[in-house]
Amino acid sequence: MKSIFPSLALALAWSAQAATPAQLMSGYAAAAGAGFKAEAARGAEFYKRNFGVSAKMPSCTSCHTEHPSQPGRHVVTDKPIKPLAPAANPERFTDPAKVEKWFKRNCSEVVGRECTAAEKADFIAFITGGH
Ligand code: HEC
Repeated sequence: MKSIFPSLALALAWSAQAATPAQLMSGYAAAAGAGFKAEAARGAEFYKRNFGVSAKMPSCTSCHTEHPSQPGRHVVTDKPIKPLAPAANPERFTDPAKVEKWFKRNCSEVVGRECTAAEKADFIAFITGGH
């Protein structure tokens, strides 16, 4: 329940308004439960982890590269992808509906399930850390 309903509720609540990466992160952290604190180091480990679910896209780095401040390339379509780090691309993590949409799609493909609120909070902590 925890992994699906809070993020859905957040997506609905947020879908109409712009946000900052910090707001998104604290929203996911709150959804992860009392006492949860987002950790950039856990997010970094998650970003680089080889999940072994998809041979073509074993990890987030498959398309977003080892360095999220660099432009990426879609491993299947070869289309360019703008940097994921807000430091390099200020549009990132400002549109809650877009963030939810891509977490959903990318996590399903790479991790083989939806990401939890805790994983999303850690991910944003990492991605906003200036990498
Ligand atoms: C198959 C290629 C691919 C892989 C692998 C991939 N992504 Fe993405 N990701 C994309 C594309 C394409 C977009 C949307 C295009 C864009 O916004 O530049 C995107 C956008 C995103 C966004 C939207 C951010 C924003 O605010 O604009 C998030 C969040 C995201 N990805 C997270 C992840 C995570 C987490 C993983 C690993 C679990 C991952 N991605 C792996 C291709 C990929």
